Amino acid sequence: MTANLAHHAPFFAVKNGQLHVESVPATDIAERFGTPCYVYSRAALEASLDEFLNELTGVDALVCYAVKANSNLAVLNVFARRGAGFDIVSGGELQRALAAGADPKKIVFSGVGKSAEEMAFALKTGILCFNVESAPELERLNDVAGSLGLKAPISLRVNPNVDAKTHPYISTGLKENKFGVAYEDALAIYQRAAALPHIEVTGIDCHIGSQLLDPSPFAEALDKVLLLIDQLAASGITLHHIDLGGGLGIRYQDEGAPTVNSYLQPLLKKLKARSLKIVLEPGRRLVGNAGALLTKVEFLKPGEVKNFAIVDAAMNDLARPALYDAWHDIVPVVPRNTAPSSWEIVGPICESGDFLGHSRPLAIAPGDLLAIMSAGAYGMAMSSNYNTRPRVAEVMVDGDQAHLIRRRETVEELLALESLLP
Ligand code: LLP
Repeated sequence: MTANLAHHAPFFAVKNGQLHVESVPATDIAERFGTPCYVYSRAALEASLDEFLNELTGVDALVCYAVKANSNLAVLNVFARRGAGFDIVSGGELQRALAAGADPKKIVFSGVGKSAEEMAFALKTGILCFNVESAPELERLNDVAGSLGLKAPISLRVNPNVDAKTHPYISTGLKENKFGVAYEDALAIYQRAAALPHIEVTGIDCHIGSQLLDPSPFAEALDKVLLLIDQLAASGITLHHIDLGGGLGIRYQDEGAPTVNSYLQPLLKKLKARSLKIVLEPGRRLVGNAGALLTKVEFLKPGEVKNFAIVDAAMNDLARPALYDAWHDIVPVVPRNTAPSSWEIVGPICESGDFLGHSRPLAIAPGDLLAIMSAGAYGMAMSSNYNTRPRVAEVMVDGDQAHLIRRRETVEELLALESLLP
């Protein structure tokens, strides 16, 4: 059974009978850093960012990587070195972005619950823009900026009420979602913003959902936002940038994920006649297929109804299958020539929902290494210490070198945060 790694090539590919990450055999990585561990390809990260940058040559545009998808400092640094900006959603992410060498003038701050402390930190840092998500947030931002003697640059995140046709947990642009301000209310809130002394209206923002495989909802949302921009202009409010959010999907299995070109060209066409700077906030598309989770088969437990392969990674390391019933390809690091059987790939956690894949045809034996593919986005970033499992190591491959970019946590470190009653 040969795995289909075509959409991961050339960064993840089987060479000389085993999976390689760039030029490094995955078995070497497992041996040196242990399993489970996340491994990323630097070249894959750069190639996915370049897909955007190439489409945007000659366009006044800024790609702000959505830090939440994978916030490892080394990952952020790879993007910062190539001129990317960042979309952050917390003071913690701001600290990370700065530690990774981000230019504050290329940072946008999204999120529905920004605290006064986070606002003050971002104002003092001098970020590009706050993506304001509600009327009360606007008032708070005005107050905080006033107390610092500063002016806060803002966009309003408007909710265009467009169906992104994606998983309900990651769809954000519908009326019933908690994000952004209702389309119908935007004009009035902009007018209020323009009247506030410590607010500077600079742009408009929308983000309709994640893992979109059909690019047409983006164009639909853009049409609605452009209409609003015209209404604002008629009322004397001129905007300088338009932030179209993130959300472009990737191929996990056999989905036809749109090219960056087919996603961007219709949008650029609509924006051509306007003098608006374009901001984008891609997350998954930049990192998803640039990472895999390496895991080892601990035990095989064939049964009457199902065969279980118990591996050393679990839902605390990669939550997406348990949380969204997400499908990740699972491939043997050293493929065997024997006939495959159907396996439930499960972790050691005490929950029936702790699975990484169902009914996978694999030829495996205890001790074998498996790679869970497309795990670069929302993998490590959403991991937890459930069952007192230390978070795993992260490794970045650069050509023929593998670098440890986050060492494995220890149980001692976890316990050190806690104390007994006196
Ligand atoms: N901008 C904003 C305001 C967002 O809320 C998000 C993602 C992004 C940009 C980046 O979206 P992307 O390009 O990655 O689709 N944990 C889920 C995905 C949650 C997405 C949350 N917001 C998953 O594992 O599928």
